[in-house]
Amino acid sequence: MKINRRDFFKKAGQGAIVLAVPAIASSILESCNNNITNPTSNSASLANVNGTYANGIVKLTVNSSSPLSKTGTAAMVNFPNGQLLVDHPSANTFNALSAVCTHAGCLITNFDSGSSQFVCPCHGSRYDVNGNVVSGPAPSPLQKYQAQFASDTLTVNVG
Ligand code: FES
Repeated sequence: MKINRRDFFKKAGQGAIVLAVPAIASSILESCNNNITNPTSNSASLANVNGTYANGIVKLTVNSSSPLSKTGTAAMVNFPNGQLLVDHPSANTFNALSAVCTHAGCLITNFDSGSSQFVCPCHGSRYDVNGNVVSGPAPSPLQKYQAQFASDTLTVNVG
């Protein structure tokens, strides 16, 4: 079969695409895998706490036996509709954040108590206790919810 100049360039173009796609995919994966060798270094799994849910409100007890009783602590709060990250930065003050990483949707399960950062186990993104990204690949902060503490009860409005 004879190939003309037009067919030659058409086939050459297809070959270039075949070669370029794996290179681009590899580059994207590389950027996601910055910390993949040990994404949870210097962190530990969060303690789990159960909460209740009704009408967009999550409630949990924080008393002296709770993993959240001391300042500087954090926990994963499980409730029927999902999970929240909760931390206790100072007396009677709590932050409540979405537990879903903004990079690729993994559940954030770890906390580095030394730096007070939440750590995603998938690719190592780190967030401060207000949900701001400290290091990526996460592109944006975690959603923060309004939290109020009174009479040993933390109330979080998750909408
Ligand atoms: S899903 Fe990739 S860092 Fe969290």
